[in-house]
Amino acid sequence: MKEKLQVGVLGFGTVGSGVVHILEEHKSKISQVTGYEIAIKTVLVRDLEKKRRHETTGSIKLTTDPDEVLEDPEIGVVVEVMGSITTAREYILRALKAGKQVVTANKDLIALHGDELVTAAQENQCDLFYEASVAGGVPILRTIVNSLAADKIKKVMGIVNGTTNFMLTKMATEQKTYEEALLEAQNLGFAEADPTNDVDGIDAAYKMVILTRLAFGMNVRLDDVKVAGIRGISPQDVVISDQLGYQVKLVGLAEERDETVSVHVGPALLAKAHPLAGVNHENNAVFITGAAVGETMFYGPGAGKGPTAISVVSDLIIAAKNIRLGTTGNAFNNFKHETKYTPDEQIFSKYYLRLKMNDKTGTFLKLTQIFAEAGVGFDKILQKPFDEYTATVVIITHVTSKAQLEKALKRTKQEPEIKLITNYSVVEV
Ligand SMILES: NC(=O)c1ccc[n+]([C@@H]2O[C@H](COP(=O)([O-])OP(=O)(O)OC[C@H]3O[C@@H](n4cnc5c(N)ncnc54)[C@H](OP(=O)(O)O)[C@@H]3O)[C@@H](O)[C@H]2O)c1
Repeated sequence: MKEKLQVGVLGFGTVGSGVVHILEEHKSKISQVTGYEIAIKTVLVRDLEKKRRHETTGSIKLTTDPDEVLEDPEIGVVVEVMGSITTAREYILRALKAGKQVVTANKDLIALHGDELVTAAQENQCDLFYEASVAGGVPILRTIVNSLAADKIKKVMGIVNGTTNFMLTKMATEQKTYEEALLEAQNLGFAEADPTNDVDGIDAAYKMVILTRLAFGMNVRLDDVKVAGIRGISPQDVVISDQLGYQVKLVGLAEERDETVSVHVGPALLAKAHPLAGVNHENNAVFITGAAVGETMFYGPGAGKGPTAISVVSDLIIAAKNIRLGTTGNAFNNFKHETKYTPDEQIFSKYYLRLKMNDKTGTFLKLTQIFAEAGVGFDKILQKPFDEYTATVVIITHVTSKAQLEKALKRTKQEPEIKLITNYSVVEV
């Protein structure tokens, strides 16, 4: 008879029910791997009367009282899968102070309060793991921290939000509008009734903050991530990008340059031959460039009951092994580096610009002069009449610094006959 390791779970929704299911379904393997019989003792919910998709067996107690998990000395590991920031933070801090190991899937919390929670975990000699917080079922955090520990990571580029990737796939392959794609995502349960966090890029920004911390050891604040979402993205940009040989994706990019980092999230045109361009529907992928390893990509389901629960339970297994070995309390990531931001003069990219201009002699010349003065060259130009008086002009620039581009765009704003509609970065292979 194996020793029992009792677990308390905070939350019994999509992920919580997945955790209960995986622990039951893969019981024998988990017991062999850890040497424990891992059993969920108590699950915290808001509403005891709610009909659950996954009913618990008689041995699991549902409760609405957090003390029944956080103050139960028999519970050695707490799994936080309830979401939110304030309450989850409070419960995790309490669990750590009580000497319990903690596993969480909460990206919002880890992005905003990760530092504080990691410190609390170390002070109390406890594990705090959060693999599921980025890209759900894709084991990317441990890959960065363990498998790429020897390398100097230069760039992390990710499609880390399944909702927007699903919507952009629908817009590209079925010519749907933004509104139609959003409605379909909501009907299929890929988008919430209030899709703000997804479509405005906030969810992806949380994940990029976490990836940056692990890949570069730098604690970037959410406010310092330049974020643009896909709200209201025009089918015109999706169609034109396709004609030019690109796919529009919501891309998170964290890049190191001379010991500084820049992190941003926004729609980007990916060359169709780029491995990330083939990441469709609700899938996620993280593309990492290392000084020695070169380019690697990690792909898979970014969310959902099964994939997310696998990451959570795998964290739980590692915590269990650490308990057995008496090695809890080592931070998930020990790599730390002073956080310094790359100045705009040192951030380089190609850009896709869609402009509306008065269709009269001299306007295009003015535009080229403005860009030339800022040092921004054009790689591709496309011009189409919009109506009798205006033309749509699409430009793909040469690689240019963000500062140069900003300078050119600031100047175009002063020209009433030129209007910038879209400004996305371009990623070549
Ligand atoms: N869903 C995914 O695919 C996915 C992927 C990666 C990460 N995550 C993260 O995992 C976490 C959970 O997500 P989810 O989709 O499973 O959420 P969910 O389906 O909404 O479930 C949340 C659960 O937590 C309980 N809960 C919420 N607030 C509570 C409170 N104050 N006190 C007690 N119980 C409370 C709810 O109780 P009731 O059932 O009684 O309402 C519910 O059982 C979030 O941090 C999310 O960002 C989710």
